[in-house]
Amino acid sequence: MNKSAEIRNQFIDFFREKEHTVIPSAPVLPADDPTLLFTNAGMNQFKDVFLEQGSRPYSRAVNSQKCIRVSGKHNDLEEVGPSPSHHTFFEMLGNWSFGDYYKSEAIKWAWELITEVWKIDIDRLYATVFKGNDEVQPDDEARDAWLQTGISPDRITLHGRKDNFWEMGETGPCGPCSEIHYDLGAKFCLKKDVKGHKCEVNGDCGRIVELWNLVFIQYMRDRKGDLHPLPRRHVDTGAGLERFLRVLEGVDSNYETELFKPLLTELVNISGVDYSAGDSGIPHRVAVDHVRMLAFSLADGILPSNEGRGYVLRRILRRAARYGREIGLETPFLFKLVDPLVEVMGEAYPELRERNDHIVGVIRAEEESFARTLGRGLELFGGVIERIGKEKKSVISGEDAFKLYDTYGFPLDLTELMARERNLTVDGDRFEQLMKEQRIRARGESKFEGSSAEFGMGLKSEFIGYTHRDVDTEILAVEKHGQSIEVILDKTPFYAEAGGQVADKGWIRWSDGEMEVVDVTRNGDIITHHCHLKEGAVPEPGLSIKVAIDWNYRLPIQYNHTATHLLHTALRKHVGMHANQAGSLVAPDRLRFDFTHFEKLTPELIEEIELNVNRAIREDYPVKWYVKPFQEALDSGITALFGEKYGEEVRVVHIGSDEHPYSRELCGGTHVERTGQLGLFRIVSESAVSAGVRRIEAVTGETAVRLALSEKHSLEDIADLLGSHGSDPVEKLSKTLEEKHNLEKENEKLLEGWAKGIAVEMLSEASQVNGVQVVSRLFDEVSIDRMKLIGDQIRARDNRAVALLASPVSKGAGQLCCVVGDAVVKDGKLKAGDLVSKAARLAGGGGGGRPHMATAGTKYPDRLPLAVEGFTEIVKKALGEN
Ligand code: ALA
Repeated sequence: MNKSAEIRNQFIDFFREKEHTVIPSAPVLPADDPTLLFTNAGMNQFKDVFLEQGSRPYSRAVNSQKCIRVSGKHNDLEEVGPSPSHHTFFEMLGNWSFGDYYKSEAIKWAWELITEVWKIDIDRLYATVFKGNDEVQPDDEARDAWLQTGISPDRITLHGRKDNFWEMGETGPCGPCSEIHYDLGAKFCLKKDVKGHKCEVNGDCGRIVELWNLVFIQYMRDRKGDLHPLPRRHVDTGAGLERFLRVLEGVDSNYETELFKPLLTELVNISGVDYSAGDSGIPHRVAVDHVRMLAFSLADGILPSNEGRGYVLRRILRRAARYGREIGLETPFLFKLVDPLVEVMGEAYPELRERNDHIVGVIRAEEESFARTLGRGLELFGGVIERIGKEKKSVISGEDAFKLYDTYGFPLDLTELMARERNLTVDGDRFEQLMKEQRIRARGESKFEGSSAEFGMGLKSEFIGYTHRDVDTEILAVEKHGQSIEVILDKTPFYAEAGGQVADKGWIRWSDGEMEVVDVTRNGDIITHHCHLKEGAVPEPGLSIKVAIDWNYRLPIQYNHTATHLLHTALRKHVGMHANQAGSLVAPDRLRFDFTHFEKLTPELIEEIELNVNRAIREDYPVKWYVKPFQEALDSGITALFGEKYGEEVRVVHIGSDEHPYSRELCGGTHVERTGQLGLFRIVSESAVSAGVRRIEAVTGETAVRLALSEKHSLEDIADLLGSHGSDPVEKLSKTLEEKHNLEKENEKLLEGWAKGIAVEMLSEASQVNGVQVVSRLFDEVSIDRMKLIGDQIRARDNRAVALLASPVSKGAGQLCCVVGDAVVKDGKLKAGDLVSKAARLAGGGGGGRPHMATAGTKYPDRLPLAVEGFTEIVKKALGEN
């Protein structure tokens, strides 16, 4: 077994023996938590337990969690590269107590594992304790527990909120913490040469590193910044696997451990540039770090895009690509690091193996797409640097940074990074303002302010909407936010948006009032109804009410959800088993299904899929659902979705007979009872979402019938317009097109003859200026294209001719065209661009173009005669005649 697996297993086994339930890592894409872009700590998946919004059938847990820290409160991105021990992606080993054991056990066990199992030298260890502030008392309980372990008292140090009070985000569960730090040794001090420097715990010289954080969760911070004690006290710990591995392997940095070594070796092979622990190794560290973050995100179903998480992926990839250039890698290379990564981590995280091709394909395509603009962007950046150097400024303007972003795809942090390397800064505020303006242009602002973090704490709502459309119940909690009234009920038929299925709409009514439910969201066990008051006063908790979903809205959603399962099965059958769901929208009017596949589907294949789904509809399969333990469901081959978080018990939607199921998927959505209810399924479009992901949009039920009808109407309209009355419109159309083609050809010929005639006529009236034939003419409403045609004819007939043609084209506009014969162009004295711009100026306009043909325009068509009459003079001047 390799060392990282050994450490992971020893940690898990140690706590398993102490009655901890082993929990799989949650995906890096947090489920149902709008406050987080990525899973940033092991405790994220238990947030609902700490806030008493959810529960688990165990009170102790242990796991190794995939974490990403690139945004929000916990962001290590800037450190990655220079630092030997920071990562955008890392594994956090953690153990938890939910209202069970507390500080003394957590500390005792951590110490036991470190000193007895891993046998780390106690003379290198330090423990830190929260020293208290005006919000929270000093943590004497933790300090006492440390003293019990036998650690020397002078190795326990006290620190404030920054280091010893851990918070998940700006809001949410938090509490004082106690950390275990490790002294790497004097040679790792980066400030050895600084006079008077003293190495310290939580200092900044790099010598002493944090290994394990033990958090004692006992508060919740709300949006106002206030702390509220939680009903129970919990333990949440996090130990950095890569850091422990470094210590236990006895190597000089995380990057030299077995988890990174094979990636570094491959990178050195590709680039031919050796790795070093110093600054010249920054590009290497960035690349091998970032590829892990990218691969794990892609494996969990996140895709690069222009917003949210997807945009973070894009930024990280672009940052790595830019660093790659520093070691001479100008073509895609990151994707080549995926295979060695899968080799070292695929055993512990099988999703990497299963999605290996997808990960490689997407990273490669993203790199290719960025490579196309990176060079030009760097050129622009060089120009900006030169300009502000000349202006003796030290700030890159928001406009320049925005242009780099908008045209060349440079994320702000990439521009900032490159600026920093030159001791410059970027006007980020202005950049953000420009971004905001762009966003507002693109779409409206978000619809809800969102409820406060403590709203609904300790409450539970039961979803009864699989079987009920309405219910008599009472209100548990109410909160008003601007125009929106948020309501929690003990049971509700309202489906909250999840798994792509949109939220229900409907009504809440009581004796003298009514609210319209416009959206429904879920957070742990709490379902929140977002309502608009229609009648009466804002209701109070305890009020008896009747709630009902809008069935006309829900029913077509059910058609589309069942159709989505049928489509998924058909895709896997006709496209291949690799066609996994990568995203989905189930709305009343349509469904959208994204799946992993690299090529465009052929029209034949699309037809096959459409036929297949319709066959399943006509079979009128029964649709039923049941609940099963998760593992049992997986073992029986039921389709689970990548990146979804599943609980202990899962709901299976089963289509078809018991013995020969047509489709079985884990799904929490609502469905029809029989597939026949869908009536009809029609694919509306097939397109690309990003590299490696395709999208199908489809409709069912009445929408599908209406689509067929509107197609029929279009065909009838076409037949009408064609006048095909009774005969085959296709035949009629191809005949009409052929006729059109012939007419166009004939017209071209006629025009050519016409232009030739005028050219001959004009040349016959030419005046001679120094061996050049000068002609000009004012036309009456002749388009610029036609004037060009005449110009071409003049050039073709006489290569020493220079001509100006002008014509008013509408009430407020005139156009000019100038041509110069090839022999004259060769002489080098006359250029059509110059001549036309001078002539246009006489008519109050401007223009330009190439030496042999150029055009111009004016807003004063009545002044065109001045240009035409003055042309010979212009030519004379240009030839130096007078
Ligand atoms: N949740 C704690 C941390 O992330 C353990 O450091």
